[in-house]
Amino acid sequence: SKNIVVAIDGYSSCGKSTLAKALAKKLHFIYIDSGAMYRAVTLYFLRNDIDLKDESQITTALQAIHLNFHSRDYETHIMLNDEEVSDEIRQMHVADKVSAVAAIHAVRVEMVKQQQRMAKSKNIVMDGRDIGTVVFPDAQLKLFMTADPLVRAQRRFKELTAKNPGLSLEDVFDNLAHRDYQDTTRAESPLTRAHDAIILDNTDLTPEEQLTFAVKRLEPFL
Ligand code: C5P
Repeated sequence: SKNIVVAIDGYSSCGKSTLAKALAKKLHFIYIDSGAMYRAVTLYFLRNDIDLKDESQITTALQAIHLNFHSRDYETHIMLNDEEVSDEIRQMHVADKVSAVAAIHAVRVEMVKQQQRMAKSKNIVMDGRDIGTVVFPDAQLKLFMTADPLVRAQRRFKELTAKNPGLSLEDVFDNLAHRDYQDTTRAESPLTRAHDAIILDNTDLTPEEQLTFAVKRLEPFL
């Protein structure tokens, strides 16, 4: 039988990864965090001072970047050239630049290719911005997640504040608003709902309610 793909797209900090992980764990699917890939590329670009307007620098850098996921559990463990960078890619200096890097054509072509390869003959849940529209247009289930912007900022602030004592709720809110703006208005694969994606607004839903919702819609394929 055909492998099952669940595509979860939506705005920043809408709980995509929380749902994706829970779903993967429940169904024993592989979870792939596509945002972590763009973040790891961004970290490499920052470390190596890559000029985002220099195509040849970008091409050379992309050839030098090897990304791998280690699936010890259902968390994201991403390796950038054999170094685990899972924590570093969540920091604000990466978050501030990632949408600019993700808007670059050559970067997207390379990431999409790798993402499609990861799903070959495997059941997967992948979250991101263009999964249902570009990466897996034939996914059996597509969800488009959204939530109230302030609720999203509060959730993300709670996650980040322990490790970033100087951070304010306002900084987080601004970063989310800025990334959403860049992600929805870019020329290349902008964030948009696939025509066949189901909208899931989780402002007032618990993680369990979201999981139940998704599992019910996957039942015909299981
Ligand atoms: O999902 P996360 O918030 O970690 O993604 C970080 C950034 O990577 C997004 O704001 C977006 O600019 C980019 N991204 C993307 N396409 C994806 C996943 C993430 O452009 N499929």
